[in-house]
Amino acid sequence: MTRVTTDLGFPAEFIQRMTGLLGQEATGFLSALEWPAAGLRVNTLRLSPAQFEEISPFPVTPLAYPPGGYLLGDEGRPGKHPYHAAGLYYMQDPGAMTVAAALGPLPGERILDLAAAPGGKATHIAALLGGTGLLVANDMHPLRARELARNLERLGVRNAVVTCESAGRLADHFGAFFDRVLLDAPCSGESMFAKSEAARREWSGAAVLGCARRQVDLLAAAARLVRPGGLIVYSTCTFSPAENEGAAAAFVREHPGFEIAAMDAVAGAEGGRADWLSPGERVEGLERTLRLWPHRVPGAGHFIAGFRSTAGGAPGEAREWNPSAPRNVVQLVADFTAKHLRGAPPLERRLEVVGDEVYGIPPGTPELKRLRVVRPGWWLGTLLKNRFEPAHAMALGLRGEDGEDPVVLAPDDPVTHAYLRGEAISVPGRAGWTLVTVDGFVLGWGKRVGDVVKNHYPKGLRWR
Ligand SMILES: C[S@@+](CC[C@H](N)C(=O)[O-])C[C@H]1O[C@@H](n2cnc3c(N)ncnc32)[C@H](O)[C@@H]1O
Repeated sequence: MTRVTTDLGFPAEFIQRMTGLLGQEATGFLSALEWPAAGLRVNTLRLSPAQFEEISPFPVTPLAYPPGGYLLGDEGRPGKHPYHAAGLYYMQDPGAMTVAAALGPLPGERILDLAAAPGGKATHIAALLGGTGLLVANDMHPLRARELARNLERLGVRNAVVTCESAGRLADHFGAFFDRVLLDAPCSGESMFAKSEAARREWSGAAVLGCARRQVDLLAAAARLVRPGGLIVYSTCTFSPAENEGAAAAFVREHPGFEIAAMDAVAGAEGGRADWLSPGERVEGLERTLRLWPHRVPGAGHFIAGFRSTAGGAPGEAREWNPSAPRNVVQLVADFTAKHLRGAPPLERRLEVVGDEVYGIPPGTPELKRLRVVRPGWWLGTLLKNRFEPAHAMALGLRGEDGEDPVVLAPDDPVTHAYLRGEAISVPGRAGWTLVTVDGFVLGWGKRVGDVVKNHYPKGLRWR
């Protein structure tokens, strides 16, 4: 079928469906969809929202929900600011910020983010865990899983494992191990239409139905991964009833051990629309799911549903991993931290060597053998001929004050920009590995020889 698009560039069949569903509201909906509000979420692993408001280089307006979420105006380029490189915030759709808040991770819990790349919700979950517990962040696509790892590293997350697996293999491996599972599902991405030409091009009625079938399969895997009494949160960034209420209803019909959970109210959000399903498809509790419409709630639009397990019993206990880096490696890392850091934060945890890379394994991490693992924990560094070279991820997991004599730069100092471009900088101080910081927030490593700090900011991240 040839698809006709409108002036907005949205598929005609989509507009027709939404006009049928929303009636008079459709015009407001479509124009809001064309110009969705942009947002930024403060990384509370680094600083509090109040601290951020004091130093924010561009105007931000606090969102009513969740805490730490802000609306951005047109001024400034937040993605091109040294604070972004230092992981002070994540640029995120305002509606997307409500998803991890709805998941509600509690300190010390085990959380799985099943479809996590590029990491908007995973980095939010990590911030809510506050450095405790365990986050397993997964994405099936290898390049996207690497991007996910980079974002978790930029935001200084130390207690995450990144995997690149199918949901089914994760369920076979872990069993009912997790307190909470997020499925931010691959979907037809209708709320991305303004931003993504590919989302518009790839959309079709058949693709919507294909997505809905895949979502129900992924939810079935999520049900095997959550502990008895645990919570699954399911979200999409699309509006089709088939992928939202339809997928939620199909899941509950096929899994009588789950009920649709009540969620915190989000101002302006609407409950799920059971009336958009056929009578035979409807299930109890669909009104407790949330629809965030772009013309009513800041952001491009989301659907969120929670499923609470009603089963009793104990969580599954996967076999705990006993990391065992050779003694000489432990010594090399200990020597490095003793020489270049105040205190020895990486040694609070057990070390593992994979190839030439050294990782700090988060406490409570289960055995990961046979899984495709991108990061088994906090990447600390690389072994090079009996030498230990610290990783960028190690630096970003530290605070400026963890370093011996760190370089402290200001965000608008041309030297900061030179460092981010990969240039050597001239700052007198103690010889050897040094943390380079902006206002005390770590940007990366440098190595000082004389007055010159050689640049160890990763090539792939350098500013052009
Ligand atoms: C909506 S995006 C996730 C966005 C992410 N949660 C965030 O907040 O940044 C869906 C993701 O699902 C991944 N994906 C697609 N099929 C998958 C599958 N079968 N299992 C796991 N992930 C999958 C895609 O690569 C994509 O990154």
